[in-house]
Amino acid sequence: MAKKHDEVDPLVNAVTPEEQSLLVSLRASDWSEFAGQIGVKKALHIAIAATKKRKEPLEHILLYGPPGLGKTTLAHIIGKELGVNVRVTSGPAIERSGDLAAILTNLEPNDILFIDEIHRLNKVVEETLYPAMEDYALDIVIGKGPSARSVRLDLPPFTIIGATTRAGLLSSPMRDRFGLISRLEFYAPDEIEEILDRAAKKLKVKMDPIAKKELAKRSRGTPRIALRLLKRVRDVAQVEGVGVITIPILDRSLSLFEVDSVGLDRSDRRLLTLMIDKFDGGPVGIETMAAALAEDIGTVEEVLEPYLMQIGFLKRTPRGRSVTPAAFAHMDKKPTKKQQEALF
Ligand SMILES: Nc1ncnc2c1ncn2[C@@H]1O[C@H](COP(=O)(O)OP(=O)(O)OP(=O)(O)O)[C@@H](O)[C@H]1O
Ligand SMILES: [Mg+2]
Repeated sequence: MAKKHDEVDPLVNAVTPEEQSLLVSLRASDWSEFAGQIGVKKALHIAIAATKKRKEPLEHILLYGPPGLGKTTLAHIIGKELGVNVRVTSGPAIERSGDLAAILTNLEPNDILFIDEIHRLNKVVEETLYPAMEDYALDIVIGKGPSARSVRLDLPPFTIIGATTRAGLLSSPMRDRFGLISRLEFYAPDEIEEILDRAAKKLKVKMDPIAKKELAKRSRGTPRIALRLLKRVRDVAQVEGVGVITIPILDRSLSLFEVDSVGLDRSDRRLLTLMIDKFDGGPVGIETMAAALAEDIGTVEEVLEPYLMQIGFLKRTPRGRSVTPAAFAHMDKKPTKKQQEALF
């Protein structure tokens, strides 16, 4: 049976409530604390400036990209900058049109409604949302059968910020209703270092600069993972009675958590091992791969693959996914003759 999304990658998804509250306390609260994503920030700054000038609500914005890169954080920063409320909900939480109506009619003018996992809105709710996004109005059907009639309910102007890890799953009428669509990218190591610096200060923990560099390298380009690893390494440092995070402490802690030299965790390595040992390195179709891993396809596509592709360990070919020579080398595997022919 396929595992649930949040059981799969213990590093990307926050698990314990304690860790969750730590992440919230470390959340970047304004632009000065939000590292990287230059292109996204620029586009947002322009949209925000135009909104302020015209005194209109901000256009609807879609943020997409792998988990833990800052979508929720950005929504809150935008709200703060505009001085409006940010109401948070998610696709699966809005079950009926009535739920959506209740949320929308309670907004104050120009408020932001953040809809996480917007690709999981059901069809009926989605169709109720269209006129709301376009005309700030809801068409509600009252009554049943021949006496049913539709009434139009005016709404205050508002902005939807939608977040998704899977833009490809969004229907095109939905996508068309966003004025701005921004893709979040994995962070460069120096941007992760910047995030670690700020967090270490807040957590009052000292880090050797070389250890910081190494931790940034092993954070999978993802702020959430960087912050979680920092916290875990800090715990080890404190238990061992040393005040500073050094390379030996970092190495010990990360091997405890099975994070390797390039930041891959157990799930990433399991995927590569399977591809190499069972499927000759590929190409293998996503369905077959997901079934062999006992993961759902979504998890493989959203959580596992993007980073492996980013670092050039995995590539998409017309016939499926293949691992690259770099991945063979990293996993300490020698390609067989057959694999070598497929690879080169
Ligand atoms: N650019 C950034 N600068 C500083 N901190 C960041 C940045 N991006 C994310 N973070 C921090 O990383 C953590 C995770 O970010 P966030 O929850 O916004 O990710 P997300 O994209 O919404 O993830 P998900 O897809 O799982 O909902 C937060 O604590 C956040 O403050
Ligand atoms: Mg989020």
